[in-house]
Amino acid sequence: MIESQTKLIFEQSKPGRRAYSLPENDVESFDLSEQLPEHLTRKEAAELPEVSELQLMRHYTALANKNFGIETGFYPLGSCTMKYNPKINEDVARYDGFTAIHPLQDPATTQGALQLMFELQEDLKQVTGMDEICLQPAAGAQGEWAGLLVFKAYHQSKGEGDQRRKILVPDSAHGTNPASAAVAGYDVVEIKSSEKGTVGVEALKAALGPDTAGLMLTNPNTLGLFEVDIVEIAKIVHEAGGLLYYDGANANAILGKSTPGEMGFDVVHLNLHKSFSTPHGGGGPGSGPIGVKAALSPFLPNPRIEKQGNQYILNTNYPDSIGRVKGYFGNFGVNVRAYAYIRSMGAQGLQKVSEDAVLHANYLKARLADHYDTPFKQHCKHEFVLSGLRQKKQGVRTLDIAKRLLDYGFYAPTVYFPLIVEECIMIEPTDTEAKETLDEFADAMIAIAKEVEEQPELLHEAPTTKAVRRLDEVLAARKPMVVYQK
Ligand SMILES: Cc1ncc(COP(=O)(O)O)c(C=O)c1O
Repeated sequence: MIESQTKLIFEQSKPGRRAYSLPENDVESFDLSEQLPEHLTRKEAAELPEVSELQLMRHYTALANKNFGIETGFYPLGSCTMKYNPKINEDVARYDGFTAIHPLQDPATTQGALQLMFELQEDLKQVTGMDEICLQPAAGAQGEWAGLLVFKAYHQSKGEGDQRRKILVPDSAHGTNPASAAVAGYDVVEIKSSEKGTVGVEALKAALGPDTAGLMLTNPNTLGLFEVDIVEIAKIVHEAGGLLYYDGANANAILGKSTPGEMGFDVVHLNLHKSFSTPHGGGGPGSGPIGVKAALSPFLPNPRIEKQGNQYILNTNYPDSIGRVKGYFGNFGVNVRAYAYIRSMGAQGLQKVSEDAVLHANYLKARLADHYDTPFKQHCKHEFVLSGLRQKKQGVRTLDIAKRLLDYGFYAPTVYFPLIVEECIMIEPTDTEAKETLDEFADAMIAIAKEVEEQPELLHEAPTTKAVRRLDEVLAARKPMVVYQK
């Protein structure tokens, strides 16, 4: 490789070289440094690379080319839904009318933005089967936390706030569920899954009592399995005086087929950044709106976006509200994308999303079933889990398989989650992939299974074709080196 292409931008630096020059200053200059606190003033010039415009351009292009994303290849990350999102929704979110306004403006001057959020709330009511929606939370986990504060306010209003201290969470749950419950001040009780991978109804019954505040569930669950006993589950939780929380991060499996409202849930959050056209990952921004049944509506965060006659207003006149959970109205840009997505797909389009997501997952599962252990035999929804136990007997771990997939040009699936499946490999192909891509991925997984039989040592070396091999991920996270040192 040409040396200049492999050098860091700092190593390419030559004193005096410039990418851009400002015109000579032709007005009087002022030194303001004396007005700044001593500890904030720079004592020596910042060490910035001095390069030409083209060098700078190549630096960023080279970085972009090193990136693997949904636009470069298949990204089957289970539970995290990395699917292609229509670019037109990105354009819409960048319209000046949306980006050049400020949430502190007089609502009379931001009627269009308020109308969009109001109509999105109406659409999400239909998607979830709930009576009220609040768009504020900025992530799935924040939606969970806000939803659990609503639980708490509801129980307090019944005089049972101190008594109902426990939130039940299945052992297959996403890690944010027990974490959110703990942050909301609840004690977390784990419910063991049945052998079929779904909630054990008997274990649930045994855990329910007068101290139960509620149950958190995602359906389909994180194994990609539909909780077929959900109606009975809802009944017994309600009979015990508890509430049901629906983690709607997996909603892309049920759109237009069923709603959490119909299943008996009281509070739900959606991950707009998984299911409704904002890419997941990269740390945000996200949006985790919550929806509630009418009985819990008084406790939703303030302010509410409502319609009065022809005007959209911000209503804070809800004295029992848990208050505000996020600055302004949440991540508005994500709401715009979700609105554009829902309106352009229409009800039938959304239904097709979940049909295709489920079909693709079952297709891949069937193609891989002879080559990897499939702990749950029933049909899956939008994602499924395999186990690398068979491969472990050859001395190859699931992590090795994931690393080898990189050599084949694929992003790796989620591994070692959910925790209840040993050597877990969790695959979510999503609705947006072509059959040819699914086949290429299945062929790679099958080829890797063969390599495990024939030359397992190859897998321990993987990846062999990438710029970096295996990193000490713990060290990288604990002691990141992000500042250039000569
Ligand atoms: C099932 C499930 N619940 C909750 C979350 C948390 O969402 P967030 O990452 O937006 O906090 C996720 C994230 O992917 C998830 O997959």
